[in-house]
Amino acid sequence: MSLGALPGFRDFYPADLAERAHIFATWRDVARRYGFVEYDGPPLEPLDLYTRKSGDEIVGQLYNFTDKGGRDVALRPEMTPTLARMVAARANAQRKPVRWFSIPQLFRYERQQRGRLREHFQLNLDIIGESGVTADAELLAAAVDIMRAFGLGPADVVARVSDRRLLQAYLAAAGVPEPALPAVFAVIDKIDRQPATVSAEKLDALGVGPGARDAVLAIGSATWAAISAVLAGAGHAGLVADFERYLRALDALGAGAFVRVDLSVVRGLAYYTGIVFELFDAKGELRAICGGGRYDTLLKSLGGVDLPALGFGMGDVVLGELLRSRGLTTWQSSGIDVWVAIGDAGDVTDAMRVAARLRARGRSVEYSLGGQKLARQLKAANAAGAREAVILGAPGAASGEAVVRRLDDGTEQRVRLDAWIGDATPPASNHQPPATT
Ligand code: HAM
Repeated sequence: MSLGALPGFRDFYPADLAERAHIFATWRDVARRYGFVEYDGPPLEPLDLYTRKSGDEIVGQLYNFTDKGGRDVALRPEMTPTLARMVAARANAQRKPVRWFSIPQLFRYERQQRGRLREHFQLNLDIIGESGVTADAELLAAAVDIMRAFGLGPADVVARVSDRRLLQAYLAAAGVPEPALPAVFAVIDKIDRQPATVSAEKLDALGVGPGARDAVLAIGSATWAAISAVLAGAGHAGLVADFERYLRALDALGAGAFVRVDLSVVRGLAYYTGIVFELFDAKGELRAICGGGRYDTLLKSLGGVDLPALGFGMGDVVLGELLRSRGLTTWQSSGIDVWVAIGDAGDVTDAMRVAARLRARGRSVEYSLGGQKLARQLKAANAAGAREAVILGAPGAASGEAVVRRLDDGTEQRVRLDAWIGDATPPASNHQPPATT
């Protein structure tokens, strides 16, 4: 029997955890800049929470079971239903619009493939209680600024934006029969991931005529000029004007260079009602980095409170792959500040005292726990990534003196130990403290 991790689950060795910590710190930093506050919910939820609203695809991937009390439960596959439930339960007490974020670990029994595992961490950023397109633009601008904070620009990442209402109106204008629309949405959601012949066969089976079928198959390459002309002609000038306001707001927020209108983005989840979007690597090699949109009816259907809502989820798996492929691996540089070494005339108790004083001043410090010769201690200091070693009891050192050796170039300096410790100030931290509510 193998005792390795289950398929699709990850062990986080320190180097992997350093990557995860970097991703989380960057997420938290940008969320804070946009005024979002952090929340969390339970990892195990009633099964009903998902079977009622998330849609068949996610329900088919649930890790669900009956608990010892006979309840049907599921590990959370997404955060949105939990958020909707939490906000609905205390809707009156919240300042509106609610701007909340969370970094849950989520579980989906998916077919394993590149960028898809059975657990992942997902940043969720949601705004509740605002129906105008400014909120939609604010949300996507935050996703785009997260990309920038990781060092990714418009040449690396594209934001494909769409609106389910526009798509529905466009498909109706192209002749897709109304009852077939939900099933046609499902075909469009997979259009990039399956051969065109398979999509065409599915559309034929749904009773979509040849003209409408060709319009569906070409949906991803239709320009906004062509789409808006069709829609305005079909009596949807209001929807078009709203979407154009959204595009202008994205420009004003500095996100325009990343944005491409693409009506083939419909999102796999069932609860979206309006503007939707997905972020992809610009080369089109990876699966979506992030996806989200408006879900204006979900709160009402789960909790009875009628509040408009929108949000996105951004996973750590595809993002990590993209950062590694672009060499944006800044998290690899960390090491300790000081190694306290003991020369022939030194004593390990002195090393402990010096380490304790430096740690009290915020320095990260190690010393040899096993009692080694000086040369081996310095080797260990290098392996720990220490920037400098302070050597106590070095040959010829007077009482109260120590030798400080820089480990990058080997230069040494004799110092008064007390004064040197007194000068040690905490290093600047790269990490922002987590936002608090
Ligand atoms: P989603 O599109 O299912 O949306 O997931 C969002 C992102 O999570 C994906 O773009 C992907 O990066 C990541 N992701 C999803 N499944 C996996 C997986 N099996 N392995 C690795 N990464 C994965 C939602 O979950 C919505 N609830 C997002 C949302 C929040 N909508 C509104 N608010």
